[in-house]
Amino acid sequence: MKEQVVCKTSDIQPGDMMKSTFGKQTVLVCRTPDGEFYAFMNQCIHQGAPLDKGMVCGATTENSEPGEYEYCHKGEIIRCPWHGREFDIKNEGRMLANPNKKIPSFKVRVEHESVIVYK
Ligand code: FES
Repeated sequence: MKEQVVCKTSDIQPGDMMKSTFGKQTVLVCRTPDGEFYAFMNQCIHQGAPLDKGMVCGATTENSEPGEYEYCHKGEIIRCPWHGREFDIKNEGRMLANPNKKIPSFKVRVEHESVIVYK
């Protein structure tokens, strides 16, 4: 099994993300507001934008009434810097507008203060 420490837990605040490397690949390590860590390929599946140049944001609920918007999932959505496609960190990196598509992800575990990505 291939594994690598990609950062320390203190390197990423909840609701933020950072670029790191896993072997020869560039990965995007995300920490959601609940403190969990996730890792994805740092490349948008649309046209290849570096996702670390985008932002972590939230989304609006699908069940809102017309004209009403409820902001949710704050700190759990990656928005691509080039054309704004959004990906759900806690749902395997699936695209909000098309959940059949997702960013390739990596397994993550935390040991002591180290964030470890592995296959
Ligand atoms: S490259 Fe990400 S939305 Fe186009």
